[in-house]
Amino acid sequence: MKTESVLAIVTGGVSGLGLAVAQRIVAEGGKVVLFDVNDDKGTAAVAALGADNARYLRTDVTDEAGVAANVEAAKAFLGGLNAAINCAGIIGAGRVLGREAPMPLQNFTTTVLVNLVGSFNVAKAAAAVIQHNEAGEDGERGVIVNTASVAAYEGQIGQAAYSASKGGIVGMTLPMARELARFGIRVNTIAPGVFWTPMVDGMPEEVQKSLSASIPFPARLGRPEEFADLVAYVLGNRYLNGETIRLDGAVRLAPK
Ligand SMILES: NC(=O)c1ccc[n+]([C@@H]2O[C@H](COP(=O)([O-])OP(=O)(O)OC[C@H]3O[C@@H](n4cnc5c(N)ncnc54)[C@H](O)[C@@H]3O)[C@@H](O)[C@H]2O)c1
Repeated sequence: MKTESVLAIVTGGVSGLGLAVAQRIVAEGGKVVLFDVNDDKGTAAVAALGADNARYLRTDVTDEAGVAANVEAAKAFLGGLNAAINCAGIIGAGRVLGREAPMPLQNFTTTVLVNLVGSFNVAKAAAAVIQHNEAGEDGERGVIVNTASVAAYEGQIGQAAYSASKGGIVGMTLPMARELARFGIRVNTIAPGVFWTPMVDGMPEEVQKSLSASIPFPARLGRPEEFADLVAYVLGNRYLNGETIRLDGAVRLAPK
């Protein structure tokens, strides 16, 4: 679909990668609704994007009824819905056997709940609406884009929960694409390497260093605009479906 006709929900859309996606879509003439749980950043994002083109709806992606209701509200604001881009996520770092004690199960559960279950929750609620769209070229009705991580493939020590959550996203991409094919809904996932966002900014310096030290080329952190550029491409290329694409400067994360 052409970016100017994109009417999208962007989760995690008030910060980092999600905000860059929202900026890209609006810059090309589309409209966005930002699902997030950070009201201050939500207000700032809408001010920057313009209230005609963007709305913030406080939405916890793990809340089934809340997401379903806000997908409807988003459709009303946008005048339709043809894309959902899942960028909400948390790091959930922690060793299986921490210094004091084994990881509390709650840490693992919460990480999987936000990153994996939350992505599924938004995808299914969006697909439930998108399936009723009028079919476009090739019968296309909409696109779902998820955000995994290269940690889905080579998680570092301390990323057991995060990697499990992101591996789950990679795993559900093909079966969702296969199932939703009959509605003309494509499902793709992007697995970013290390990008310069508030999430990475908040990590301890030695972790940042270790993450960026081994990026072959370009030897720097990724820029959120580069992520947004790939999202725009995924939205636009109708033959791209059921795939997870690494965007990582050829980085392969070391064990630690
Ligand atoms: N930055 C990186 O290097 C990197 C690398 C690989 C994958 N990712 C993934 O990309 C996505 C975006 O990350 P980012 O770096 O932009 O981080 P970020 O912290 O800047 O943005 C994440 C956003 O998600 C929101 N969020 C958290 N929990 C939520 C919930 N329950 N409901 C709704 N919103 C919630 C946060 O409020 C925040 O605005 C995440 O899924 C992250 O795991 C990031």
